[in-house]
Amino acid sequence: MAEFKEVPADAPMGVKAMNWIDNRFPASKLWNDHMARYYAPKNLNFWYFFGSLSLLVLVIQIVTGIFLVMHYKPDAELAFASVEYIMRDVPGGWIIRYMHSTGASAFFVVVYLHMFRALLYGSYRKPRELIWIFGCAIFLALMAEAFFGYLLPWGQMSYWGAQVIVNLFAAVPFVGEDLALLIRGDYVVSDATLNRFFSFHVIAIPLVLLGLVVAHIIALHEVGSNNPDGIEIKAKKDASGKPLDGIPFHPYYTVHDIVGVSVFLMIFTAIVFFAPEMGGYFLEFNNFIPADPLKTPAHIAPVWYFTPYYSMLRATTDVFVTVLVGLIAVAAVLAVLLGGLSGKGKVATIVGALVSIALLKTFDAKFWGVVVMGGAVVILFFLPWLDRSPARSIRYRPTWHKYLYGAFVVFFVVLGYLGIKPPSDIGTLVSQIGTLFYFAFFLLMPWWTRIGEFKPVPDRVVFTPH
Ligand code: HEM
Repeated sequence: MAEFKEVPADAPMGVKAMNWIDNRFPASKLWNDHMARYYAPKNLNFWYFFGSLSLLVLVIQIVTGIFLVMHYKPDAELAFASVEYIMRDVPGGWIIRYMHSTGASAFFVVVYLHMFRALLYGSYRKPRELIWIFGCAIFLALMAEAFFGYLLPWGQMSYWGAQVIVNLFAAVPFVGEDLALLIRGDYVVSDATLNRFFSFHVIAIPLVLLGLVVAHIIALHEVGSNNPDGIEIKAKKDASGKPLDGIPFHPYYTVHDIVGVSVFLMIFTAIVFFAPEMGGYFLEFNNFIPADPLKTPAHIAPVWYFTPYYSMLRATTDVFVTVLVGLIAVAAVLAVLLGGLSGKGKVATIVGALVSIALLKTFDAKFWGVVVMGGAVVILFFLPWLDRSPARSIRYRPTWHKYLYGAFVVFFVVLGYLGIKPPSDIGTLVSQIGTLFYFAFFLLMPWWTRIGEFKPVPDRVVFTPH
């Protein structure tokens, strides 16, 4: 046990109260370690707003969620009407509901930008791998949270969206049908499904999310923030051990973050008040019709934040699987002939290629679509080990890396767009090219991140005060 600290008898009441607490709970220590004496690089730019904004949206979702649950009924007979009751009769119910529905989309906007910032500045690189891994787990949990929540209003899109996605699990070989049954709790999406999704949405996933966010921030504070130059500020310290390019998080970044919060709230409230449906992208028009198990909507599309991955699922047709088989065969032949592999390496490459081709041909395209969709998220976990660039930040990488990142963003947005639209021949072809680009971007990273002309990385961070 730490020694009890004494304060002079004539000290102000506030000091005495704080001392009383500090002798029992490390309040001042926590404040100093994580705020007042936590040194963050002085050159953090607007990209660094999105972490604190993710926290803000998390709080908005939890608080509005608590109020929604007071009036919502997780019952297939009552759910849709209870949401309408919240919208029309509960005082302030409409704003709580619109904040929550807009918050769901806002969460993905800020988290996608937050992840892209990490890509730009190599924030996932050593020693920040765990920050990134916790982040990827947060992203997965967030997707699950959004998926479970979407069933709750029990509209046509809620119902049929859940039906389509749960049916995907049925494509898993051998155990698929039982797995889908376990998730639904019934042979079709029903009251049992609604009850379990409600339970996951309001308690299980939020607990996991909160735990992961705490772990994410603890890991961040253990190693310290990266910055737009991708330089370790801890490498250059003054005599007292403070990083030369570091400034205390409080008051500098607490105040800095207010700018981000203000701009965010202006956009957020404008949407909540003037365009909560956002043209059908945040709240789909079909979801204003009560769920009808006997009437399948003509076009079922997930909400925009899932559509890049949904496009990849739809891109995985029989033809696409055949193209993959061809690509694997060509890559294996090239590796054996030109790769400079040892005898064992050649055998391993041939065996690996044959096994992959056999597997691709054994199971149907629907199953591989699910694998591709899941793989697109799983691959993110490996980013810290795929990127081998000598410079962390895009600032000091070859200029063409910027164009490659640009192409990645364009393909991701195009995949998202195509996922919203009904399938078409040209759309499928473009999403197949997009899917190949997405995977090639990551899988070939160990190769392409090392080539090109790198710029000299400075010793100290580059910062121009305003
Ligand atoms: C609920 C969701 C999330 C919250 C509340 C959150 C919170 C934060 C905060 C407050 C920071 C420090 C400020 C900043 O760097 O912007 C941070 C940093 C970071 N986050 Fe997140 N985060 C979330 C999701 C994610 C996801 C999904 C990823 C990646 C898959 C991720 C990866 C990172 C990385 C790599 C850093 C370090 C950035 C650097 O030092 O340059 N985070 N996060």
